[in-house]
Amino acid sequence: MNRSALQKAAHVTTRRLLDMKQVGEKISVLTAYDYTMARILDRAGVDVILVGDSASNVFAGHSTTLPITIDEMIYHAKAVVRGVQEESNRAMVVIDMPFMSYQLSSEEALRNAGRMMKENECDAVKLEGGRVIADTVKRITDVGIPVMGHLGLMPQSIYKYGSYKVRAQEGMEAEELFEDAKILEESGAFAIVLEKIPSSLAARVTRSLTIPTIGIGAGVECDGQVLVINDILGLNREFHPRFVRQYVDLNTIIGDAVKQYVHDVREKDFPAPDESY
Ligand code: KIV
Repeated sequence: MNRSALQKAAHVTTRRLLDMKQVGEKISVLTAYDYTMARILDRAGVDVILVGDSASNVFAGHSTTLPITIDEMIYHAKAVVRGVQEESNRAMVVIDMPFMSYQLSSEEALRNAGRMMKENECDAVKLEGGRVIADTVKRITDVGIPVMGHLGLMPQSIYKYGSYKVRAQEGMEAEELFEDAKILEESGAFAIVLEKIPSSLAARVTRSLTIPTIGIGAGVECDGQVLVINDILGLNREFHPRFVRQYVDLNTIIGDAVKQYVHDVREKDFPAPDESY
């Protein structure tokens, strides 16, 4: 975030998210991966834009989030930040640290987090994991880089889980997640994404933390909600999990528009005289 962004009182900050939790104002978060979408989301009033590593799935077509690189994430984030800055510059922009960019050592994680902040002017980074990354979260936040945590279903660990089913349904995993959330807060995280866990557990975690929780498939008691933009717009035909609310069927709308264009070109209906020079 540049100086003029900070001076704009409306720009959403970590402080603002804490205040929202305290007064019970819900936080809206959506993903974006490009300039045009970032402008639309910022204009529409979304509080936080997440440049998610879900770009690996919905943008690049990989089956998991693992292949996306730091350079690719920076490319997406630069476009998103540019879009927000050119629009109302209100939304906070958070960038996902991709798989293996923070797991090897705290020092390497700090170097990569610093690079991701410097090169694209995001407001914060997001990491997946609990106690295992506590020292790393502390190291990164200690130098002034805000960290958003991510617990529950962590897509970067999909090969360990073996499936995308709901996490922490049983006692031990639920207790571990509860403790991990506390540890992340103590390590300096400013918010935590809770993905695909029972609503009752998410509510308990939310009540026990002073920092906000952002749910995805974690029930209405979370302090905020996040979804992948492609899912709410119905861009992807095959993916319809229970936690997604699809607001429009853009896949069909875009397909119909393209069919009409192809027809118009074939029939020499396009371009018309007033569309020509
Ligand atoms: O990468 C992503 O889009 C995410 C959200 C789904 C929370 O991590």
